[in-house]
Amino acid sequence: MLDFCGTPTLETDRLILRRMRQDDTQIVFDRWLSDERISDHRISPAHKNVLETKVRVEKIVSGYDSKKFCYWGIELKDGHDLIGEIDLYDFDHATGNCEVSYSIGYNWWNKGYGTETLKAVVEFAFIHMNLHKLSASHNTDNPASGRIMEKVGMKQEGIIRHMIRNAKGQYKDCAVYGMLREEYVGRKGAGI
Ligand SMILES: CC(C)(COP(=O)(O)OP(=O)(O)OC[C@H]1O[C@@H](n2cnc3c(N)ncnc32)[C@H](O)[C@@H]1OP(=O)(O)O)[C@@H](O)C(=O)NCCC(=O)NCCS
Repeated sequence: MLDFCGTPTLETDRLILRRMRQDDTQIVFDRWLSDERISDHRISPAHKNVLETKVRVEKIVSGYDSKKFCYWGIELKDGHDLIGEIDLYDFDHATGNCEVSYSIGYNWWNKGYGTETLKAVVEFAFIHMNLHKLSASHNTDNPASGRIMEKVGMKQEGIIRHMIRNAKGQYKDCAVYGMLREEYVGRKGAGI
């Protein structure tokens, strides 16, 4: 049974994962939602104007009224720059499973922030939410996303051909990853 506890602040060595705020809107637009280098790897198209982002952030902020809403902004401890977002979604009460998705602003890629973020949320989900299984998928032409899943202990379960059609009408094959509670516990016990 899932134990929902909303979106509490999480801390890692270099990052604070915190609730998003309405005054983040411009930064969210500038740093990831308007950037095609990021949206090309996701289903929703890049935002064309900041009003679209305002509506999206409003929806996120109102989501915090529910304990079943888990959506973090990723902030650097050093300088307090907001550099990305991560969320847990598609909770299935019958199985205790859910999905994770994330984006990091292009200027901060390949500095280990994606891995550090995902590791913290994986830990939160298994320890505090009693998750049974965490899943995610990435386009096969986006190997960096698969790499961070592997680095936190998720396993590739297969490739689904033409799993998504992006905003440009391109079909994409996706690699599907998952991590079971017992695998998380095993890694933790082994100090990984
Ligand atoms: C996926 C994403 C979150 C990764 O964030 P990040 O902060 O760059 O991740 P990290 O720096 O922790 O790790 C990136 C890893 O991918 C590897 N990598 C980067 N580009 C790669 C490529 N073209 N091929 C293979 N590996 C690649 C890096 O070398 C690094 O692995 P390493 O630590 O073993 O060297 C970021 O690229 C992103 O936001 N992409 C766009 C949105 C997206 O893809 N979201 C996920 C949808 S499923």
